[in-house]
Amino acid sequence: MKFKKCAVIGLGLIGGSIAAAIKGQQLAGYVVAYTPRQDHLRIAEHFEYIDVGAEDIASCVHHADLVIIAAPVAAFESIFAELSRLPSDWLAVNVIVTDVGSVKGLVLKLAAQYIPHLAFIAGHPIAGSEKSGILAVNPRLFESHLCVLLTHESDTAKSKAKPDDYQKIKQLWENLGAQVVDMPADEHDRVFAATSHLPHLLAFSLVDTLAGDEAQRAIFQFAASGFRDFTRIAASDPVMWHDIFFANKAHILRAIDDFSSGLNMLRATLDEDDHEGILGILTRSQAARKHIQAVLEQRTFTSLRHSTLQQQTSNGVIMAQHTVQHFLLQPGGKCLGEIYIPGDKSISHRSIMFGALAEGETQIHGFLEGEDALATLQAFRDMGVVIEGPKDGEVVVHGVGLYGLKQPKGDIYVGNSGTTIRLLSGLLAAQSFASRMIGDDTIMRRPMARVAEPLTRMGAQVEISEQGTPPVVIRPAGQTLTPIDYTMPVVSAQVKSAILLAGLYADGVTKVQEIGPARDHTERMLKAFGCDIKVSSDRQITLKGQQSLKAIELHVPADISSAAFFLVATSIAKDGESILKNIGMNPTRTGVIEILRLMGADIKVENERIMGGEPVADLHVTGQQLQGIQIPERLVPLAIDEFPAIFIAAACAIGVTKLTGAQELRVKESDRIAAMAEGLKTLGVEAVPQPDGIVIHGKGTDADSAATIFTGGEIDTFGDHRIAMAFTVAALRATKTILVKDIAHVATSFPGFMETAQLAGLAITKI
Ligand code: S3P
Repeated sequence: MKFKKCAVIGLGLIGGSIAAAIKGQQLAGYVVAYTPRQDHLRIAEHFEYIDVGAEDIASCVHHADLVIIAAPVAAFESIFAELSRLPSDWLAVNVIVTDVGSVKGLVLKLAAQYIPHLAFIAGHPIAGSEKSGILAVNPRLFESHLCVLLTHESDTAKSKAKPDDYQKIKQLWENLGAQVVDMPADEHDRVFAATSHLPHLLAFSLVDTLAGDEAQRAIFQFAASGFRDFTRIAASDPVMWHDIFFANKAHILRAIDDFSSGLNMLRATLDEDDHEGILGILTRSQAARKHIQAVLEQRTFTSLRHSTLQQQTSNGVIMAQHTVQHFLLQPGGKCLGEIYIPGDKSISHRSIMFGALAEGETQIHGFLEGEDALATLQAFRDMGVVIEGPKDGEVVVHGVGLYGLKQPKGDIYVGNSGTTIRLLSGLLAAQSFASRMIGDDTIMRRPMARVAEPLTRMGAQVEISEQGTPPVVIRPAGQTLTPIDYTMPVVSAQVKSAILLAGLYADGVTKVQEIGPARDHTERMLKAFGCDIKVSSDRQITLKGQQSLKAIELHVPADISSAAFFLVATSIAKDGESILKNIGMNPTRTGVIEILRLMGADIKVENERIMGGEPVADLHVTGQQLQGIQIPERLVPLAIDEFPAIFIAAACAIGVTKLTGAQELRVKESDRIAAMAEGLKTLGVEAVPQPDGIVIHGKGTDADSAATIFTGGEIDTFGDHRIAMAFTVAALRATKTILVKDIAHVATSFPGFMETAQLAGLAITKI
């Protein structure tokens, strides 16, 4: 859709960039602008940012069908007043008036007062920098930026704008490269007071305080980049910010008060030499900062760390460029020595959850500082739980009891973690507050109906998308949840745990009948936290609702799912021999050991002991020629996360390995059957996917147990950590280099994987 005449009032702020973008893309027949600065009009004409400059507002808007007000907020009243005085046929009949002001409550009030007869749509593109004015024009300023349009009923009631008009303005911003979002005016002003207006005010204030004092002025001489980063925005246009501060005064005063009380608390903590307190504030804030960025970009924290490269485009615009990291593997390498594997992911998640719901302080040792478990930790911080750490695997959770969680201020962001979103669904369903959960692009495709369905039966209000995927929106049930007697349609620890978490709050006894052995960490941990929970021999779990949990000290064993990559690596490597220390040996998780042993692997279990209610052992592995097997279906749930590694073992085995009864693999972090089949084919191994499994034609021979199996190649990980780690291991028996592409997600379960692999002798680097 093209406008006939676009009139831009004000070229000083971002008006010039808007005009230039509209003209450049020919989104209007012609672009006219007005600004009181004649010299600016001439510059705009000269550089063809506009077609022509107007002498005054009236001639600027004459017959315009689009009027964009890009003036300082303080000028709005006189501009609206002038528009209100124009004869009725002065503007085009179908004219739409819009604006770009950063304060919306006041703008809407003035529009309602002066131009109720016109179609007015309030907007706010979230772009711009400390540089403004006609000399800073950048027609690509809005690309990949958000633009708020106020289309909420409460804000549009007094405008003549029709739905079609909103569509046109939305389209206009989208054509300029912006992503349009809707927000009510009051929320807009509150949010921007805190996230934009307050930081500007603080930057101005800090510079003013330091610059005002003669003795302090020397500081500027030594100002390091931190000071420059923090105060960059103090170079912004003073008149514009003066206007904004007054136009949004009430919200900004509240934001200053909140900030002052935080600052006073920090001051007192420092004054009292409370080192732990200061560290608590700093770690919470560091985690929140990373979290916020991940939420905004819907990415993993790790990928963010590598996304800061800036690129200068041909027209001089600086764009953030996301660099994707890969593993580069040289063929050969070894797998030798003592290998230390990080903490168990499933247990780490649950330690935070139950620690938070318990009464007292739960001490956790060996917590997995991987992104999935950190997402759970952050979710509970968002719900008001004080959590110290993690620092070298140590975490202290200050439990708030079953009924002590607070409503999170925004969406809960679960990153890549299926366990977080599914288990929390059960927990949140029972709370007296509403909540919403989202995650990165992979999580947004994962099935959620399997938890929503039983929870709904318990009386919970759980809403998911039509495709059965997140976002998960949960409303308070309005009454205590009803216990259910539920036979699970799938073998899933996440579904079982979600029901049990909801069952903790139910009014009576919840029963869950399993149809296969899913991991039982929830049951074990609830028992350890002092809960009355029973598991019968035919796998029926019985949990009494409304029991309180008592804080404990908990040791997290090393994750057998992460160890699996080194079990396979050692088994297939030339002269491989390793000892994997402190591995969790929960019988619902040891399928990988049984399967590899059936294939001929030499895995000795040593030093068996119990750690925090979970069996633990060291695994002594020696390389062997493996044989292809039909994997017994009973072992599938016991090795559900380890199949990517097992498939690599199968490729190195003599003969065919067949897997059936494993359709669940299709709905993990990726479709693991398809992803592994594709990667194996790329590396020259025949792998035939089946609806519920795979057939892998092993290339091992009796003649040489270290012969090469895999060709080199590039592997697509489909954003799945375990696919990335499995194909890393394949390099031990490859003829050429393997490039494992996009490995950011490895840190969800195995931070330090590359270093651990290097220590064992794999020839792995990150590029
Ligand atoms: C997990 C359960 C399993 C597993 C996942 C972790 C848990 O998922 O694949 O990595 O911690 O409960 P399902 O419950 O979907 O089988």
